[in-house]
Amino acid sequence: MDKKVTVIGGGNVGATAAQRLCEKELADVVLIDIMEGMPQGKALDLTEAAPIEKHDASVTGANSYEMSADSDVVIITAGIPRKPGMSRDDLLSTNMGIMRQVTEQVAKYSPNAKIIVVSNPLDAMCHVAYEASGFPKERVMGMAGVLDSARFRAFIAMELNVSVENTHAFVLGGHGDTMVPLPRYSTVAGIPITELMPQDRIEALCKRTATGGAEIVSLLKTGSAYYAPASAAVEMAEAILKDKKKILPCAAMLSGQYGINDLFIGVPVKLGAAGIEEIVEIKLTEDEDKALKHSAAAVQELVDTMKKL
Ligand code: LMR
Repeated sequence: MDKKVTVIGGGNVGATAAQRLCEKELADVVLIDIMEGMPQGKALDLTEAAPIEKHDASVTGANSYEMSADSDVVIITAGIPRKPGMSRDDLLSTNMGIMRQVTEQVAKYSPNAKIIVVSNPLDAMCHVAYEASGFPKERVMGMAGVLDSARFRAFIAMELNVSVENTHAFVLGGHGDTMVPLPRYSTVAGIPITELMPQDRIEALCKRTATGGAEIVSLLKTGSAYYAPASAAVEMAEAILKDKKKILPCAAMLSGQYGINDLFIGVPVKLGAAGIEEIVEIKLTEDEDKALKHSAAAVQELVDTMKKL
């Protein structure tokens, strides 16, 4: 392949992302984890599946970063997942240290990469990656809006018994309990869902979306979701690798857009070869704007906490 993607963290999200990347032939993949033998074993297993899956992408496992050199995109999934009863924010101090160490290596070996952060608490971890990499803000982004919007779309399709392919949804804000699903901008075949279902059902779907991660955590009991998070990260990587100019909700560093400054938060962006090529400002109602500001305040609190750790 003429593109290279490194996935840091060989756990469920990382390994599933590696699988999707190679099976879609988006890039050669390097899977890195500190656990000896684990990324090598998973990479070999994926390589041995290639003849059946019919792809020619190479997958390499490693415990250090040399093999990752000159990656086009780096997906960071490293860190611990939450367990039932925990919030994503409970992971802050542990994952902050891991994120810093990992990003320093990424920046050293792949100074031109675009970084997609997946580790939680997502928006706060984007701040760590941004500072530790020293990269311009266009090249550091977080995966969350794509995941939250996919969950919203799945619930809309289930509710209305329509194809998921007919659905579109936008979820903005931080990747936490305060996230902001936007029913007005969520559609089925172009029709806003506000015209297709009663308000109480819309509210129920929004609530299920906002607690979607916790719902999976409470079912799995030993970890968090990985199929949908991996799909979401790979959709972002694909948009960058193929220079698709695709509008997706992602965590981006804002400088004044939506009245928010110096903060990573989920907003619609245009993703292409340069990373975040544009931050799309959509018109929000007073209530939607209030909800976004409330979500931004929750992220800001985590960023302030990190400064004291
Ligand atoms: C998710 O939304 O599935 C992830 O952020 C993992 C989690 O802890 O919920």
